[in-house]
Order: sequence, then structure tokens, then C-alpha cells
Amino acid sequence: MSTLMQHKKTNPVIDPESIRRDFPILNRTVNGNQLVYLDNAATTQKPQIVIDELARYYSEYNSNVHRGIHTLADEATQAYEKARQKVANFIGAPKTEQIIFTRGATESINLVAYAWGRKNIGKGDRIVLTQMEHHANLVPWVALAKETGAELEYIPIDEQGCLDLDDIGEIISRNTKLVSVTQMSNVLGTINPVEKTIEIAHDRGAIALVDAAQSVPHMPVDVKSMDADFVAFSAHKMLGPTGIGILYGKEELLSGMEPFNYGGEMINEVRYDFADWAALPHKFEAGTPNIAGVVAFSPALDYLRNIGMANVRQHEIELTGYTLDRLSSLGSIRIFGPMNPELRGGAISFIDNDVHPHDLAQLLDQSGVAIRAGHHCAQPLHRLLGIGSTARASFYIYNTKEEIDQLIDALKEARRYFGHE
Ligand SMILES: Cc1ncc(COP(=O)(O)O)c(C=O)c1O
Repeated sequence: MSTLMQHKKTNPVIDPESIRRDFPILNRTVNGNQLVYLDNAATTQKPQIVIDELARYYSEYNSNVHRGIHTLADEATQAYEKARQKVANFIGAPKTEQIIFTRGATESINLVAYAWGRKNIGKGDRIVLTQMEHHANLVPWVALAKETGAELEYIPIDEQGCLDLDDIGEIISRNTKLVSVTQMSNVLGTINPVEKTIEIAHDRGAIALVDAAQSVPHMPVDVKSMDADFVAFSAHKMLGPTGIGILYGKEELLSGMEPFNYGGEMINEVRYDFADWAALPHKFEAGTPNIAGVVAFSPALDYLRNIGMANVRQHEIELTGYTLDRLSSLGSIRIFGPMNPELRGGAISFIDNDVHPHDLAQLLDQSGVAIRAGHHCAQPLHRLLGIGSTARASFYIYNTKEEIDQLIDALKEARRYFGHE
């Protein structure tokens, strides 16, 4: 049975039409056409309540956090720390102190690579990644391996684009110090069995980092039951402002680490020849943070909580199944990643056999359809797949089947433009 048939009968779990009304940008036109925004894996759009909170912060309680005694400083600090609490609740972190605000998932992973990696990984130690990692979870480890003489090993992918775990027992060897895996691929969409990988990592005495940049925004994630040592993700991929990332870490690991940045806010006591560090989480938040971004992340988290992450996931399974069917019916399209929507998220990379991904993206833009084209910060994966670039459509809570139909029409139009069929 086709995925379209399987997904036709289910009742809609969320109402994207009413959700759309909360996102002012979705009303705009692009090149004379209604915007169809399908680049959500890169960044999502923002609901009015997030935009309003950014403005409210600057117009009503703009102040620095953690250092003032006056009312504005107190209000800003309270809003900032409330956001931290909301993040902790959202991902099931046992303690608020385990949530560190960074600039993005990239910085969260770099923080671990510097503050934990450079102390705990040395020559001959192994770092295990997967073949489907985003550069954010690859380059920091390549740099660390280069610097320390550690070795890198990769869990391979199979023909479907799923992890091939046959040799995982050997790949995660006794000299492995760190296993760092993406929970959802930004290219293949694949959802990886991170719990199993983490269990094997722990069994070998290694720690495990989960790149959750594509998973936390799209499915329920509970860091405690997952038993990850570190989890990294970004606010801007889940309705929040840009410039905010989250690093969750186990308390004993974070407590044992040296700071990543030094300066104001992260100290306990400083003398001319001495400094020691503040307690968690402030030890890792040197300098003035992106306060506006953090406080405006709160309503984004509320918004997603109200919808329910299980419903977000279900909506995306339906859209993904529909898209996979419609793309397959075109005949000229090669899709990457699993064809079963239950095994994957809604980032769908594909190529047209006759039209280059960049030409496709440019022509689709003429119809108001925004997709991404390129290597999506996963050059090694594209090389492995034998291609330089792919086109990628990716969904979120406000996308509809009608928009997928517009994508398909625009793809057909692009083929006609280039003289195919
Ligand atoms: C899987 C994955 N990891 C990490 C990142 C990096 O996120 P950011 O650019 O927000 O730091 C991305 C962004 O696309 C991603 O898709």
C-alpha cells in the first residue's frame, strides 16, 4: 500500500490553517505568488507571540541579567531564568542548572569539544560519529582529532539511509571516548536509534552526545530516558529567535569541565592573580547573553507545548508520507532517505534526474516556493551518495498538503521550462 493511502484516512491531529494565522510572514507574497515556505530544516518562521515578546523586552524591561538590583534587571533576570526552566521541562532535564544557553547547536557542540574533549580525548582514543552528520557535529571532532591524534570512526549508513548497526559493537570500541550522533538527519530525514547507540557507548565506557537540532523541534524528546550525556539544539529551528542554542549536559560532567569562555558573569571570585568559577549554569555563560532571544524563546516553547510534540510529529508523518508519494509519482525524482515516514522526519532531499538542484530552487522561488538546494552542511554524506548537491523540502506545523501540491506543480513547471516532457 502506498504511504499516501496509509495516511489518507487518519484524522488531522493539528489544524495548520488556524496555526498559519499566528505567523504573519506566511501572508506575504514572493515573486507575485503566495509564499510556500518549505525550508524549515534551515530555520522555522516565528509566531506573533515570539515577535511580540522580543518587542516587549526592548520596550518594557530591557536590562542586563544577573547583575542589577533595580526592577528592570530583576524582571529581565526572572524572564531569562524562566525560559531556562521551560527548556528544562520541555526536554525532561532533571535540573534547570543543566541547561546552558549558547548561540546555537553549533556552539553547544563546540563547547563540548573544547571544554570536555580537549581534556578527555587524547592520542589513540576514538571518537565515533555517523556518516550522516551535519558539519556542526563533524568539523569540531575532525579538528579535535587533528589536534590530539585521536582517531575518527563512522557508523555507516545502509541503502535506505538508515544506520547500519551490524558492526556497531566493533566500531564503538574499548578505546572510544565519545560517540556523537544526530537523532534526525537534516538530509535523509532518518531518525536514528540513539538510545541503543548511547547504551553501547556507555557499556564501552564512552560518553554520548546527541545532536538534536532536527529532533527536539519535531518530536517528543526526553533527555533523561534517552540517557544522553550531552544534547545540543537550536531555538531558531523551533519557532524561537536566531542566536540561541541549548546545551543540556549531565550534572557531573558539566561540573567537572573547565569553562569554554572566560570573562564577566562566569566567575565566583577574581583577584589580579586568581579567578574561580561560578556554579552551573553560569560557568558556561560568560558575558552578556542574548537576553532578548532567550526571553522570546519562552512563548515559542509554550506554543509547541500547547500543540503537543506528539501531534507535531504525527502531522509531519502525514505530510512526509504524502510528499514521498507525490514526489515518487513524478518518475524523474530520486529521493534520499527512508521511504517509510514512520522512520524519518520531514526533511526530504531529492534530485531531479534532468534539472540541477540550484536551478530547481531558483525556478521554484519564481512560484513563491522556498526550498533549499546545496549540500546542507553535509558534504561528506553527499560525496558518499555520489552527488554534489540535493534539493530539500522540509516541513513544520503550519505546512499543508495544498502546499505540497504547489511544490509538485512547481517541480513539473521547472521540468517543462528546461524542455523535459
Ligand atoms: C542536524 C543539525 N545539526 C546541527 C545544526 C546546526 O545548527 P545551528 O546552525 O543552529 O547551530 C543543524 C542546522 O541545520 C542541523 O540540521
